[in-house]
Amino acid sequence: MLLDLFRKEIGFENIHGYDDIKDIVKRALDAEDNYNLLFIGPPASAKTLFLLGIIEYKKGVYFDGSNTTNRILDVLEEKKPKIICIDELDKMPKQFQEKLLNFMESGHIKVDQMRKRYDFKIKEAKVFAACNEITRLSRPLQSRFRRLHLPRYTEEQFLEVSVKVLPKLKIAHVIGKAVWDQRGDIRDVISIGKLVRKNDGPEEVEQILATMIKYGEIKEH
Ligand SMILES: Nc1ncnc2c1ncn2[C@@H]1O[C@H](COP(=O)(O)OP(=O)(O)OP(=O)(O)O)[C@@H](O)[C@H]1O
Ligand SMILES: [Mg+2]
Repeated sequence: MLLDLFRKEIGFENIHGYDDIKDIVKRALDAEDNYNLLFIGPPASAKTLFLLGIIEYKKGVYFDGSNTTNRILDVLEEKKPKIICIDELDKMPKQFQEKLLNFMESGHIKVDQMRKRYDFKIKEAKVFAACNEITRLSRPLQSRFRRLHLPRYTEEQFLEVSVKVLPKLKIAHVIGKAVWDQRGDIRDVISIGKLVRKNDGPEEVEQILATMIKYGEIKEH
């Protein structure tokens, strides 16, 4: 019980900024009526954090659409969750996207397969999903959601998020700035932060970043 109360508090706490979106998401979760929200945004823009925050805030299930299997159907049938989070929705196979559309229209899941038949209803489920590319979803599926576009971070926001994700490092903002200048994302900030030692300064950060660029995927522009 105590844990539940505590959990409610921490749902979105590790997401820096976006107070306006947090408010909308909580309202959607608390609303009596059905509500479907889709987060659209570039990599490392906190979409997955939002979905994980949602299932912490209210009991629900989380699926990764890029790893879709019939397990999703099994879980839905067994748990009949009222909150369904689907990450990487644009990477979900088309036939699953179609099933989802039918489900969002009727609350009904009906799938006939060689091995197993699914035929069940979940009333009033709310669907929260995330994707990079909305154009990979069919128009009808797009229209089922209220869509929230998360823009790329500004430099100021990027530095703030860098400090948030590297709380133990005094030079977090230096790492953030170096990665920003190379147009990397927050994941690059985190991975460089792991390699930085206590006494390292801007020079060492530059050196690590230069090596990562030389052999890795951070592109120099
Ligand atoms: N606003 C933020 N506050 C705190 N951490 C953030 C924020 N934005 C990004 N991050 C950090 O960046 C990393 C990536 O975030 P997340 O997984 O939510 O990105 P995503 O939008 O789902 O990206 P993708 O499209 O690649 O799935 C996480 O480790 C997260 O902690
Ligand atoms: Mg993600």
